[in-house]
Amino acid sequence: MTQQGPNQSDGRSPDDDETIVSEPFDGDDSTHKTGEHAGPSVDPQRVLEADRVGDYRIVDVIGVGGMGIVYRAEDVMLKRTVALKVMKPEVASNETFRKRFLREAESAARIDHENIVTIYQVGQHKVGQHKVGRHQGVPYIAMRYLSGESLRERLKREGRIEPRLVANIGRQVATGLAAAHGIGLIHRDIKPDNLWLEAETGRVKILDFGLARSQETDMRLTKSGVVLGTPKYMSPEQATAKTVDHRSDLFSLGSVLYHLLSGTEPFGGSDSAATLIKVTQADFAPIQKVCPNLNPKLARLVNALLAKHPDKRPQSAREVALNLAEIEKQLEAEHEANARRQSLTETADLASPDPSPVPTSAIPTGVGRPSPLSLVLLGLGIVLIGLLLVAFLF
Ligand SMILES: Nc1ncnc2c1ncn2[C@@H]1O[C@H](COP(=O)(O)OP(=O)(O)O)[C@@H](O)[C@H]1O
Ligand SMILES: [Mg+2]
Repeated sequence: MTQQGPNQSDGRSPDDDETIVSEPFDGDDSTHKTGEHAGPSVDPQRVLEADRVGDYRIVDVIGVGGMGIVYRAEDVMLKRTVALKVMKPEVASNETFRKRFLREAESAARIDHENIVTIYQVGQHKVGQHKVGRHQGVPYIAMRYLSGESLRERLKREGRIEPRLVANIGRQVATGLAAAHGIGLIHRDIKPDNLWLEAETGRVKILDFGLARSQETDMRLTKSGVVLGTPKYMSPEQATAKTVDHRSDLFSLGSVLYHLLSGTEPFGGSDSAATLIKVTQADFAPIQKVCPNLNPKLARLVNALLAKHPDKRPQSAREVALNLAEIEKQLEAEHEANARRQSLTETADLASPDPSPVPTSAIPTGVGRPSPLSLVLLGLGIVLIGLLLVAFLF
């Protein structure tokens, strides 16, 4: 097993955009952030004693979160590569977190949609020496292995993303969300880390249903008054532990689009507490102030998604997806018109004579000078005419 740069080792501060998971559940009031380990710190390579988990052979580590570790693995029966999210054994001894982890698999597996990561299997792996609670097994989720990168990685590399691609990404996320919302599931942790851009297809996949919750069971959250999610992308109602519905995901989508377009989050504080205060109380700089040449329809949509009150936002993911599809079409048409204009200008430049006077001596060609072949032909011609003349005279 080789380790391949777990995604927590990128030097971000502990308060940075990490998910807060805190939830009274079965009398347990555990709280932690996904960047922190719920137990003693874990070396991802040493979590598993064997290199096999169920029918999967571990290849290397591709991501490390608070709950678990994501490995690249091979399904030995089907001979295909999978992403295997295995819960950390220390965390698995906590019933709250076990249930949450298993619920993640259950939630994501209920949706069959091209913009949501496909779940293949959920299982429990027996690990001899670890005490892992009543069930004596470490839960794992096998899912489709995605090649490409998260939007967080893309942002880190490029700073911001061009509006045409942002509209396309946004439309795909909104379409995936519409599918989740359609079965009453709220994601609650939409952020660049949890959105994946597939390399070959350009398809966007929503990952990490670790905080997903059915709309009907959300009453429990209201009573418990706890905060879950990622402060920088969290809706005001989520930040104040009020009842959260599907429109909370739309606010988070607005934050993500804002970040992709401008390179900064609309509500970034020095720490989680400061960010939460900003999300709930402060006005954000309208996107057109930060990106002055942005398409006005796209600017209006992003600003509307970030409305503090859910009633003031677009009301459904489907509506947002349709709106973004229109914007995408418009940006695409503008892009093509620009490209056509550009190529016409280039053709015109090539066709028109160069107006600048260039001294003849500077032209490095043989123009004006006879070639050796023509000199030989000329000589032959003269000799031939001479011979004809002689023949004619004598
Ligand atoms: N299906 C997958 N294919 C490839 N990489 C993945 C996949 N699922 C997760 N990852 C990687 O692992 C990281 C953590 O996965 P995630 O499900 O978000 O776990 P966490 O709950 O720890 O945030 C992701 O940001 C991504 O880099
Ligand atoms: Mg995640």
